[in-house]
Amino acid sequence: MTWDQRYATNDYVFGTSPSGFLTAHAGLIPRGARTLCVADGEGRNSVWLAQQGCDVTAFDVSPNSIAKAGKLASDAGVAPTFTQSTIEDWDWDAAPYDLVVGVFIQFAPPELRTRIFAGLRRALAPGGRLMVHGYTPKQVDYGTGGPGNPDFMYTETLLRDAFSDLTILRLDSYEKDLDEGAGHSGRSALIDLIADAPA
Ligand SMILES: C[S@@+](CC[C@H](N)C(=O)[O-])C[C@H]1O[C@@H](n2cnc3c(N)ncnc32)[C@H](O)[C@@H]1O
Repeated sequence: MTWDQRYATNDYVFGTSPSGFLTAHAGLIPRGARTLCVADGEGRNSVWLAQQGCDVTAFDVSPNSIAKAGKLASDAGVAPTFTQSTIEDWDWDAAPYDLVVGVFIQFAPPELRTRIFAGLRRALAPGGRLMVHGYTPKQVDYGTGGPGNPDFMYTETLLRDAFSDLTILRLDSYEKDLDEGAGHSGRSALIDLIADAPA
């Protein structure tokens, strides 16, 4: 099943509430940040970030998800810019961002992931902040969300190496019960990175 087919339902597969990772670290969201939400899905994160006062650009490969994100935004009275694009085609150099957000973007095998991480880094303005949230390999045992392949997951070493020139504010792997729609539900093996580019 493609992502677009998965989103062809009135339900919000990952819920309409923002990721608990973002709300837990709301104090680290730069005020009024020019924000890029990568593979944003049905808009739960971009809409919430716009509600926090961020100037949000979001993209996703799935037209159905973009349509649902637009409805969520309109209902919330905010207007992020939504674009349908693959991550492979996204122009990371088109604009600098004060905040780049990648939440559960673990659809990429290692070679593509390396290119995506380089893109996330390139999109950061000087002094910009990166917020990445995903699963560790242990998640494969839980099977409560994400791909069933440990090669797609993140470790602290992987993230530290990929973003070695950033100053790390938070890098932590931990376990938690998630209740983020049918897509992310139950005990989960999670990892967070929050890090700043040099000014
Ligand atoms: C697990 S969902 C997470 C969505 C959103 N970030 C969230 O936390 O609700 C992964 C997202 O990646 C998108 N995606 C998958 N492959 C993609 C690609 N090649 N380019 C852009 N988006 C992609 C899917 O459409 C889906 O919305």
